[in-house]
Amino acid sequence: MVTVTTIIEETFRLADPASKNGAEVGTVTIHLDRRKVTVPRVPGETLLESARRAGLEPPFSCEAGNCGTCMARLEEGHATMRVNDALDEDEVAEGYILTCQGVPDTSVTVRYE
Ligand code: FES
Repeated sequence: MVTVTTIIEETFRLADPASKNGAEVGTVTIHLDRRKVTVPRVPGETLLESARRAGLEPPFSCEAGNCGTCMARLEEGHATMRVNDALDEDEVAEGYILTCQGVPDTSVTVRYE
């Protein structure tokens, strides 16, 4: 049996990718449902907000860090969770993050599984 997989990749760029002080803001790359989308990183924006801004429909429920519905794996970069009442230490150590609470500190790549 042969399975055909389609992967759609989209990249959005700012006209001026530099921030006000001239530093690169970086990017947020999101893998969800066979799509890979990259958007410019907006300081203070959560990964869930970035995914929505990218036109994706990521899973979520409470948006308060309590349920774990928005969980994804951080594959590259670093992000800080504002609240984490859903993931245990082992999951965090494996790279899982609550996208509704995770704010990237660098360019990041996340994958919803
Ligand atoms: S949506 Fe509930 S923890 Fe993120």
